[in-house]
Amino acid sequence: MHIFPKIRITADNKLGTKRVGITESLGKRLSLKDNDQLLICAGKRKIPYVISILPGKNDAAFMHTTNIHQLCLTPDSEYGYIYNAGELRLGPMVGIMIEILGGPSKRYAGQTTFIKSLIIRGQELGEICFAFSPYAINWQRQLVTGYTFRKGAWVKQTFPFPDVVYPRERTYAYSRVIVEIRKKFDALGVKFLNPQLAGKWVTYQTINNQPHLKDFVPDTRLLTNFTVVEAMLKKYRTVYLKPIIGSKGQNIIRVTRNRSNKLYQYQYQKNQKAVRGAATSLGQLKASLSSVMGKRDYLVQQGINLLIDEGHITDIRVIVQKNHTGKWMVTGIGCRMGPAGSITSNLSSGGRGAKLTTVLERHFSSQQQRDQIESDIRYIALESARVLEKTIGSAGEMGVDLGIDVDGKVWFIEANLRPARRIFRLIDEPFIRQQSIVNPMLYSRYLAGFSGKEYAECK
Ligand SMILES: Nc1ncnc2c1ncn2[C@@H]1O[C@H](COP(=O)(O)OP(=O)(O)O)[C@@H](O)[C@H]1O
Ligand SMILES: [Mg+2]
Repeated sequence: MHIFPKIRITADNKLGTKRVGITESLGKRLSLKDNDQLLICAGKRKIPYVISILPGKNDAAFMHTTNIHQLCLTPDSEYGYIYNAGELRLGPMVGIMIEILGGPSKRYAGQTTFIKSLIIRGQELGEICFAFSPYAINWQRQLVTGYTFRKGAWVKQTFPFPDVVYPRERTYAYSRVIVEIRKKFDALGVKFLNPQLAGKWVTYQTINNQPHLKDFVPDTRLLTNFTVVEAMLKKYRTVYLKPIIGSKGQNIIRVTRNRSNKLYQYQYQKNQKAVRGAATSLGQLKASLSSVMGKRDYLVQQGINLLIDEGHITDIRVIVQKNHTGKWMVTGIGCRMGPAGSITSNLSSGGRGAKLTTVLERHFSSQQQRDQIESDIRYIALESARVLEKTIGSAGEMGVDLGIDVDGKVWFIEANLRPARRIFRLIDEPFIRQQSIVNPMLYSRYLAGFSGKEYAECK
């Protein structure tokens, strides 16, 4: 349990709109007296008040309903706070940035429940939370239109700019709109929980440049020309062609060179179906793959002989997150098994989940080896998150994809900055799923500066 100091906000219209009442005990704690000035901040909105000291032993504040509304607070709720030199910051205010994807009943499509849980967990921590679309920002008035969840219902509301943005938008792949939004928010001191997408090539280079991680990274080249595919196929029986900006296993191609008949055999997934084919020359292979590759930039990667569990390609998803003190931790690990016959283990087009221990027990008889694999998984996931954020900018969470090959060696596959939590539902780990939802909200407190002394006092 994380217990933070909180202030209870109660409506009291007798005070008028210029004054805010605080209890004697809160006054003492903040060294504030009757008629002192106090600036109250919710996100980037700051409103000056004059203090009235009222009797009371709890940490409570009394405000005119107009003021409560102006600060985006809910009467009779408790908020985290941090006080410094006449400035009382409440919350912090956390805005989850995500496009509107559906109608009122499922505004954020498949992510609606997740967004709702984030808001509720954040509110329990004393935060002011809402979701807003990157297309609903008014820069002139410094306002966003968003939705919060209150008393069991979604409420549309206008908010000031938040302390922290939790980016969950879809149009993030180098999108100019998002780059601009980040730049402008940054100039105003709004913090981002995660950086923008880095792309697979930067990710590989960054991790491969680390002597302690290099051995876990598959050999990877930029696909500048199909001769690179040929060169890689001379070294490895199987290679994977992957778009540098891509997700959900989409447009990934597996190519195998058949040593006896010299055929290039390929497979990819299209409209949830496997497309298989063969080419007799490199030119023919290129032509056959042009429709799936399009104009995207690709990389070529050594194929890993991943575990096959009951016919399903299996890999590992690790959620690593920073906690309330800004330290990286492993929140949870799950195995993902792709649809039967698929060349990827992504869950988006079907697939199943399994607990790591179950999969390891099925494939490796030695307890010692199983322990070694699990410790490698934790080490690589944590280290890659640490290393990556030095290149791509400070991050709060990542979904790291790792592979285990048939010999028990662990491989780095990729790191995602908008990790899904679906795996924890599939493997029936509700506690881990909840923890993975609370963590970004806890880390937001830290990012907004609501930690340190205040937290230590209450521990
Ligand atoms: N080099 C590889 N060897 C074997 N399988 C791979 C390789 N790269 C990717 N895969 C499989 O394809 C899946 C998707 O690859 P990934 O790099 O994570 O792309 P995406 O961003 O589309 O999820 C992986 O989870 C893994 O199952
Ligand atoms: Mg992936």
